[in-house]
Amino acid sequence: MFESLQPSPADKILGLIAEHQDDPRPEKIDLGVGVYRNADGNTPILDVVKQAEQRLVDLQDSKSYISTAGNASFNSALQSLAFADSVPVDRLLTLQTPGGSGSLRVAAGLILRATEKATIWVSDPTWNNHVPLLGIAGMTLNPYAYYDAVNHVIRFEAMLDSLHQAPKGDLVLLHACCHNPSGLDPSEDQWREITDIVVERELIPFIDMAYQGFAVDIDTDAFAVRHMASVVPEMILSTSASKNFGLYRERIGALSFLVNDVKSRDILASQASSYVRTLYSMPPDHGAAVVSSILLDTELRAQWIVELTEMRDRLRDMRSLLHAALKVKAPDHDFSHLVCATGMFCFLGIDEQQVERLKKEFGVYMVNSSRINVAGITPGNVEYLADSIAAVLS
Ligand code: LMR
Repeated sequence: MFESLQPSPADKILGLIAEHQDDPRPEKIDLGVGVYRNADGNTPILDVVKQAEQRLVDLQDSKSYISTAGNASFNSALQSLAFADSVPVDRLLTLQTPGGSGSLRVAAGLILRATEKATIWVSDPTWNNHVPLLGIAGMTLNPYAYYDAVNHVIRFEAMLDSLHQAPKGDLVLLHACCHNPSGLDPSEDQWREITDIVVERELIPFIDMAYQGFAVDIDTDAFAVRHMASVVPEMILSTSASKNFGLYRERIGALSFLVNDVKSRDILASQASSYVRTLYSMPPDHGAAVVSSILLDTELRAQWIVELTEMRDRLRDMRSLLHAALKVKAPDHDFSHLVCATGMFCFLGIDEQQVERLKKEFGVYMVNSSRINVAGITPGNVEYLADSIAAVLS
């Protein structure tokens, strides 16, 4: 049976992990997959996570099944981290999912249960996996204008024009903060304008918040979520604890629905339960148990905020460091857009051939769109990186 299959092309982001690992050059630099790294180039487990895990080892008394919706205290803690008090909790349904990707996939399945033909508008560009993931699930995707690759700014007016064309009932996928891949987010005023169109056109916002806390802080990064939730009748939110808790491999995320009333919420909960049961039955608990014990403990929560701030500050510092180094090494080119972005990503703004040369000649790895993960930059490699970029520019 399987002989009939043809090889599938490697994922453009995940494929870079293996390529970088197999590169024997000691000076190689990985600016590919969105994983945080410290100044030594490592992705350590947060101290606060280690402490929470130790508590679990000491106190957890069962590994029995929980439920299709996962860990209830995790769900309510993540729900309140995202929505705060923007909306009454009885209009919200949150379920734990295997990572942010699992959340997107379950959302797509439930949307398609509710409406046979669902069209979702996605930013041009968007995260590499949004399109295949939602497309394979059965959704129709349309792009809305977002990034001006020449001037490195948001094409805000064009974005609004695209949204004005979206028919009533269509969904709009929005990145709450740290837009992946551009790193450019709308201002709060611009979010208000986007919300007005969403309301006027009767669109359904589907917000992906994979980087809460990586742009400004937990509350500011949730502005779009909370503002929209306070005015729209229905909304979908995918969140992830991969980045802000550094729990990547634990696959821990959540899916929240804002609905009109308690009756719709209860029906949706039953649909979600049966959908998840036939997909993976239940999400894995470890990451959820860790996150909920951190968020529900005042001391651990405060420590988490400190560690999250350190990660965010390092990302900001590495942008500035690369920008300063490029000013010296490539003075004829303007890289000021690097410091306007937030979170892990931004576009370097070079073409595919130059990206390929960086990989082949210098062992510098990034997505072929020239999206870089600034966490791969360190004070120790920034000179080499800037020299390499300057070399492919000339
Ligand atoms: C990324 O964009 O690099 C991350 O979200 C990791 C992934 O799964 O692609």
